[in-house]
Amino acid sequence: MEDVIAVVIAAGKGTRMKSKNSKLIQKIYGKEIIKRAVENVENAGIKDIITVVGYMKEQVKDVLKDRVKYVEQDEALGTGHAVMQAIEYLQGRKGKVVVLCGDVPILRPETISRLINKSIENKESATLLTAIYDEPTGYGRIIRDEGGNVEAIVEEKDASDEQKNIKEINAGIYCFDIEVLIEALKEIKPNNAQGEYYLTDVIEIIGNKGLRTGAVIVEDNTEILGVNDRMQLQMLTKILQHRINTYHLLNGVTIEDINSTYIYDDVKIGMDTVIHPNTTIKCDVEIGENCELGPNSYIREGCKIADNVKIGSFVEIKKAIIGEGTKVPHLSYMGDCEIGSNTNIGCGSITCNYDGFNKSKTIIGDNCFIGSNTNFVAPVKIGNNSFIAAGSTITEDVPEDSLAIARQRQTNKEGWNKK
Ligand code: UD1
Ligand code: MG
Repeated sequence: MEDVIAVVIAAGKGTRMKSKNSKLIQKIYGKEIIKRAVENVENAGIKDIITVVGYMKEQVKDVLKDRVKYVEQDEALGTGHAVMQAIEYLQGRKGKVVVLCGDVPILRPETISRLINKSIENKESATLLTAIYDEPTGYGRIIRDEGGNVEAIVEEKDASDEQKNIKEINAGIYCFDIEVLIEALKEIKPNNAQGEYYLTDVIEIIGNKGLRTGAVIVEDNTEILGVNDRMQLQMLTKILQHRINTYHLLNGVTIEDINSTYIYDDVKIGMDTVIHPNTTIKCDVEIGENCELGPNSYIREGCKIADNVKIGSFVEIKKAIIGEGTKVPHLSYMGDCEIGSNTNIGCGSITCNYDGFNKSKTIIGDNCFIGSNTNFVAPVKIGNNSFIAAGSTITEDVPEDSLAIARQRQTNKEGWNKK
């Protein structure tokens, strides 16, 4: 999106999380709320992002680093006041500015694009995202004229009883003409129930200038939810879980239990793969077609799994590259490893990948048969077509086509118990 700037307001205090940290660095599926909010803007194609920081600003900056520009709001005097802090960046620029809140993490990038596109196509100076809520309490209400045009937003605390009956609410996500917004911000005053500079007041100000305002009604009401306390954090995690799992289901992946399967962002899964309950798949994982995962398996970041692979119950794998047709059926930890195709890893096998200082790699070839309870003391390499006897602790490389036995022979002391 050329010529589009985004202002993310993230200066407010947020005390309901009951945390010593900023609520914006709480994580949903391993990723901070503020990072999600900013990534959604980036994924809508907006590169120029200004974040308004204030309360615990260092924590927010630590997460976002230099992917955004920062302005500071020293005192939280309202959402309008927060956006005023960005004027120094907006001054002299043309085009559109999107304003949204840093505590709204699961907004779809497509929704942001839809807002911008409607604003441009309908030549609106201000376009806002709204939602129809059965329980609108707490939100700003949308006031429309007889023709259906958006006239104003009235905050809950300033609304009349009649206005409180309105079910269309302000989602807090807007698209403005930059120059129009700057002028309108100069006119807002804190003469309302909360004594704050309301960003919402600019809608009426812009309308009164004879400029066009409009709204886009969000299709999925869950997208605009913010996070204030840990109950909402849990709720949004569940919504995201459902959204991601639905995506994979519709892509041809069988998920036996949508409620106990946790698939993080940026995971690719091929068709006809089956995921049994209680399985977690973390970020940056690629899984081929027709695989079987779980129950109770844990596939951590950086794994690449080819087609027809089985990762069975109570198996944890990390940064594992696994070839076609290979099976790790149960109770294993395979980390920092490359395993070829059609290899079978026996129950209870483990890569000893960490010596307390460094991580080392285990490489296992094609068509190997690894007996149960094998320890691979990495770095170590097993050639193709090799066998490893059950219970072995492998500390040295094994050549191709070999049998490795690395355990003590059994001795039976007959009659010992009678003595
Ligand atoms: C705001 C809207 C309301 C809308 C709702 C949607 C206003 C006046 N009202 O209400 O119409 O229905 O969002 O969720 O805008 N913030 C700052 N600095 C401030 C104040 C707020 O950075 O001085 C940030 C907060 O950190 C937060 C966001 O702005 O992320 C929203 O502020 P909040 O006070 O929660 O607004 P609401 O009362 O929810
Ligand atoms: Mg408020």
